[in-house]
Amino acid sequence: MSGLVVNDIGVRFGGLVALESVSFEVPEATVTGVIGPNGAGKTTLFNVISGFVKPTNGSLMWEGKPFQPRPDRLVRQGVTRTLQGVGLFSHLTALENVMVGAAITRKAGLTSSLFGLPRSDRDEARLRAEALEWLERLGVAHVSGRVAATLAYPVQKRVALARALISRPRLLMLDEPAGGLGAEDLGPLADLIKALPREWDTPCSVMLVEHHMDLVMKVCDKVVVLDFGKCVAQGTPTEVQADPAVAAAYLGAAPSATSDIAAEAAALNEEVGQ
Ligand SMILES: Nc1ncnc2c1ncn2[C@@H]1O[C@H](COP(=O)(O)OP(=O)(O)O)[C@@H](O)[C@H]1O
Ligand SMILES: [Mg+2]
Repeated sequence: MSGLVVNDIGVRFGGLVALESVSFEVPEATVTGVIGPNGAGKTTLFNVISGFVKPTNGSLMWEGKPFQPRPDRLVRQGVTRTLQGVGLFSHLTALENVMVGAAITRKAGLTSSLFGLPRSDRDEARLRAEALEWLERLGVAHVSGRVAATLAYPVQKRVALARALISRPRLLMLDEPAGGLGAEDLGPLADLIKALPREWDTPCSVMLVEHHMDLVMKVCDKVVVLDFGKCVAQGTPTEVQADPAVAAAYLGAAPSATSDIAAEAAALNEEVGQ
């Protein structure tokens, strides 16, 4: 098993059970969606896999080995995550933000541009070109020189995705990539996510938390459904859609078709403030 194995994960926050006995696999080179009503534990699950939250019980395996994720080492461990919300360096330009994403895994480039350290001009130029390429692919190359804070929310979101992608993760975790995006952006985003598992020479697995059911059903090989911290169903999109437990999970808590930007921003602040 070369992908990610989530085995019997439980998380408690004081008396609150945020996750209970959650087990599933994210096989190599597949897209796995995690869905469920608000408060189901989706972000907590992402926080466990990225090392921000220590599980109360259970274990993770990554690429065949026991995995104890650490946020500061994650990218080097081949795992990259985007935050629910945006999480860009607000004072850096779009291009610099993307270059940051590559710098952690590459020896050269970024530090020179940001801190004026002597580095090979050629490496820097290559990194810059690659960053620009990702911005182009995400349709936002025209804002490469603009400071992130001045960009519209959906544009920031694409820059954040470009920044995640340039590190060429072997596991990419996307927390609500379509949040705040318009209908016209969803098609290209879906195409991009579907193509990711075979984007580079090493296979990439994708984990995705998303409220846009159309997107989930279109891009995912497999869907895991959480409700009150428990995995109530998992299977192909078709299997999950037909599962009565899934309909039950959503009764009285209809999934929002479009995410509320203000709520997302609040959630991001909460997350960052932890
Ligand atoms: N750091 C935390 N401290 C206490 N409770 C938390 C914390 N993070 C999340 N929770 C609670 O855990 C549950 C799951 O939350 P979350 O993972 O954010 O759900 P989702 O992302 O599916 O909306 C919720 O009841 C939430 O209030
Ligand atoms: Mg969440």
